[in-house]
Amino acid sequence: MALAEACTLMRFFVGVTEVCFMSAPVGDCSYCCPRNDALDIIYKLFTRSNPTEFQVIVPGNLRKLEKTNFNQSAPTVIYLMGFSEATTGPSTTTIRDAYLSTGEYNFISVDWSRLIAGPWYVSAVQNTRYMGVRLAKFIQFLSRAGVPPGSVHVVGFSLGAEAAGFTGKALREQGVRLGRITGLDPAYPGYKLANSDGHLSKGDAQFVDVLHSNPGIFGFPEALGDVDFYPNPGSYIQRGCWLDQLVKNREVGYICKYISIVLIHHEQAYAAWDALLPAGLTTLGGWRVVVG
Ligand SMILES: *[C@@H]1O[C@H](CO)[C@@H](O)[C@H](O)[C@H]1NC(C)=O
Repeated sequence: MALAEACTLMRFFVGVTEVCFMSAPVGDCSYCCPRNDALDIIYKLFTRSNPTEFQVIVPGNLRKLEKTNFNQSAPTVIYLMGFSEATTGPSTTTIRDAYLSTGEYNFISVDWSRLIAGPWYVSAVQNTRYMGVRLAKFIQFLSRAGVPPGSVHVVGFSLGAEAAGFTGKALREQGVRLGRITGLDPAYPGYKLANSDGHLSKGDAQFVDVLHSNPGIFGFPEALGDVDFYPNPGSYIQRGCWLDQLVKNREVGYICKYISIVLIHHEQAYAAWDALLPAGLTTLGGWRVVVG
């Protein structure tokens, strides 16, 4: 197959969820598609002024950044999705909407679909380290734009959580501390044998909090952060963290919101997502059934 053809990202819908595949992985191997950051890593900005239509932030281009809705006075949250996801997928849009409905944020969704395209999981694992180095550089760019790295919060799901860890490690090597990382079920396959240098860990940011929804299978079973949550089926979830309470009460700590995201890690939940999400935020019993 011609390289150009192999290196085209293909998008499919699995139910309502868009997923991304390529016929060769992006990376450094002999049959890999060559890396091209301009294509492989797109920083998509969403704010309350553009909650659904993204604006692209070009790393290194301050003039272009000034033309976007980026608000230096608002907190910046950077989101890294997981394996074979698209930024149109539920993990990105749910977290984005949760933030933008809560307050003024610069919500930056990292579109790294090409680096984590299916079915190339091993390459995707290797690319998490690469992504971390590139995102560290991007955060340094934001720092030049007046956003202190200590104020930045990186949220990552599955492989995205590992890339978030590598971002913090790369910054640390440059003597910079990232503010916060939230790891949503950090990926376990491909990382389980690594020491703390090789996966998300405490110290990758000033504060690292981790949610484990699928410990020991897709997600890490061990506690990795300053704080670790285990909202498992059948286990106790803190009062105030139920989805219906979240909707009613915007005051709850936003860590709780992520529980809605974590649930979709289980494949069964995808089928229920469409039915439950629009109307079903008050039918939490349904969620427990799905997860259980
Ligand atoms: C920027 O963010 C600040 C702090 O949240 C907010 O008060 C202000 O209205 C925002 N400005 C714009 C133009 O959205």
